[in-house]
Amino acid sequence: MSFDLSVIPHKNIILAVTGGIAAYKSAILVRRLKDAGFNVRVVMTDGAKAFITPLTFQALSGNPVHTDLLNPEAEAGMGHIELARWADLVLVAPASCDTLAKFAAGLADDLLSTLYLATKAPVWVAPAMNQQMWAAKATQRNLATLIEDGVHVIMPDAGSQACGDVGLGRMPEPEDIARQVTEYFHKAQRAIAEKFGLLAGKKVTITAGPTREAIDPVRYISNHSTGKMGFSLAAACYAVGAEVTLIAGPVSLDTPNGVKRKNVASAMQMLDESMKKLDDGCDIFIATAAVADYRVAQVAEHKIKKAGDELNVALIKNPDIVATIAQQEKRPFMVGFAAETQNIEAYAAGKLVAKKLDMIACNDVSRADIGFASDENAMTVFFAEQYQLDQRDLEKASKQEIAQQLVEAIHDALTHVVQSEDDF
Ligand code: C5P
Repeated sequence: MSFDLSVIPHKNIILAVTGGIAAYKSAILVRRLKDAGFNVRVVMTDGAKAFITPLTFQALSGNPVHTDLLNPEAEAGMGHIELARWADLVLVAPASCDTLAKFAAGLADDLLSTLYLATKAPVWVAPAMNQQMWAAKATQRNLATLIEDGVHVIMPDAGSQACGDVGLGRMPEPEDIARQVTEYFHKAQRAIAEKFGLLAGKKVTITAGPTREAIDPVRYISNHSTGKMGFSLAAACYAVGAEVTLIAGPVSLDTPNGVKRKNVASAMQMLDESMKKLDDGCDIFIATAAVADYRVAQVAEHKIKKAGDELNVALIKNPDIVATIAQQEKRPFMVGFAAETQNIEAYAAGKLVAKKLDMIACNDVSRADIGFASDENAMTVFFAEQYQLDQRDLEKASKQEIAQQLVEAIHDALTHVVQSEDDF
């Protein structure tokens, strides 16, 4: 099972290409759909073959191109009914006037029109034609029928046309069509996650990255945290139905799809934003941030000038964000992280109790192959005593895989029925 909503795993698209000059754009569309993670099979009408060759689409899609309805050889490979069942979406781009008319009338005299009747998958059409043909009453009547029949129409763009006319009828750019198709599957996937995902409906707040503690207007104290673990966890929580907010220190990472993000610099700002999220409602708080333990007592108003051989800057302790949140009355399920070089178990257990956490994930930073800037991690997870769950060793894996296992651990603790002694 994949938790990554940034690509569409294993969804099958039939791209049907009909006769029109816009067929050249369909070649790029195949590429964009493949880039997004779709399996693509191309169906071509006779008209399409006058504009572009099946070989082009075969090479781009990596699959044989389907052109005939009554060809025994092709039917022996993947027949029209099998093809109709294979599709998770049928995308007709460009869709000619003739194809729209056939669909509206329910004809089945070639492979595409037969496929249209034989599939249960959603059908999308991207009409492309001369502006006068688009405006023709018969075309508009057919379109209205198709919309009523549940077909999704990607409206044509306006502009100058291959025939020299100017007006509505240009097929939208392949990138735009591929984006719309991807968004459709993301929404569908998200709807399932919101209903059935491990953290369906849970509000999750995650602190991530380093904090930056100003010394003067141009200098600061910080650390090497990249924020990768927190961002991977945000994506993993979102993928299983949670509503996720990242409170991120200064990092150079893209916000995962669907996740809300609040940027902060200092530990005090991170605490402020965390408290606000608590007021908004928070079910699970995950503290992955490498918060600076100390901040500068008196931040200089102006740049400190070079003078003498020594410079003393007084530091004062920053509040412990995760411990502060854990002490609040409306306390979420609290997850902390710890980086240790020795006595991992003892230190982790100590922090679990001292910070009043429900769960702590601990990694051994003395190992050179995992940790801060690495794409991989290995962790041991400990649960608070009341959950009666054994510690879990998460073997070295990508931060995404570790994130998924942490999500499962959180879910297990949240759903674990704590048995009282009377039950025995
Ligand atoms: O005490 P230590 O820094 O090892 O604890 C690490 C855990 O506490 C992490 O989950 C970190 O995000 C959190 N923490 C915090 N605020 C601090 C220091 C640490 O939330 N000021």
